[in-house]
Amino acid sequence: MTEKIAILGGGNIGLSLARGLINSRLYKPESLIVTRRRIHMIEEIAEEGVVISSDNAMATRAARIVFLTVKPQQAAEVLQEIAPCLDPEKHILVSLVTGLGISKIRSILGDSVPVFLAMPNTALALCESMTCISHGEEREKDKEEVMNIFNHLGKCITIPEELMGASTVLAACGVAFALRFLRSIAQGGIEIGFDAEMSTLIAAQTLKGAARMAQESGNHPEHEIDRVTTPMGITISGLNEMEHNGFSSALIKGLLASYRKIENLNGKKDS
Ligand SMILES: NC(=O)c1ccc[n+]([C@@H]2O[C@H](COP(=O)([O-])OP(=O)(O)OC[C@H]3O[C@@H](n4cnc5c(N)ncnc54)[C@H](OP(=O)(O)O)[C@@H]3O)[C@@H](O)[C@H]2O)c1
Repeated sequence: MTEKIAILGGGNIGLSLARGLINSRLYKPESLIVTRRRIHMIEEIAEEGVVISSDNAMATRAARIVFLTVKPQQAAEVLQEIAPCLDPEKHILVSLVTGLGISKIRSILGDSVPVFLAMPNTALALCESMTCISHGEEREKDKEEVMNIFNHLGKCITIPEELMGASTVLAACGVAFALRFLRSIAQGGIEIGFDAEMSTLIAAQTLKGAARMAQESGNHPEHEIDRVTTPMGITISGLNEMEHNGFSSALIKGLLASYRKIENLNGKKDS
């Protein structure tokens, strides 16, 4: 596509987004403008052709879609900076900022600029993100454009705004939860004979295959578990030992702890 994209905040998620947009072949590197204050830290992506800058206003003026990818505490300042540069007929603002609601964004930008919230994860770079999108009354073509981008970067669904916090925990924090699970399995693999590299390879491919089975068959995970648990067998012995030690419970409790934290943070911001 020839239209330009601005990514304001070239950190972890901003750079993952830039890489995903390039890897998906949806945008050429030259179509992307990535900003941060310390631009020397993103010189690597400039070598690939991406325009880098510390000028958010310039990047916004040049772009059609503006992605906001700064930390929550930095978002209001950046929105105030770009507000005068946004043209409702030309721009779409897509915020990836955790806990920043549409009403807060509108209180700074006004009511006319199309605003979308998106909660992806760092697998954007590999075009394997799960992204949840939320928006108010927006033009059909803008909705299609935003969904099209995130569908090229993995899978994308629209959810009500009140579920954005839950989607942050499940999809964005979920990457860390899944990788900690992977690390544990790989560590076990080392204890039973594999070197670290082999163990991680076996564990990662197994996890990927299991996830695809659940996703593509549409079956409940327990259905696939039943297929590998022989009565009195090896798998069920391991699984039950894990459950005796609180495996499922620990995961659910961890997820809820993250959710409580996000709810507290959002509550503090509103008050
Ligand atoms: N990481 C994830 O997996 C993930 C997933 C979904 C959503 N998010 C959300 O994405 C946002 C960014 O998270 P992150 O993990 O990518 O944080 P991060 O790595 O700290 O990235 C934030 C970036 O914003 C830049 N920045 C700060 N102030 C700026 C300004 N005034 N103008 C331009 N750039 C500025 C920072 O660079 P300088 O200090 O050099 O300016 C930094 O590179 C957060 O709101 C987070 O909730 C993150």
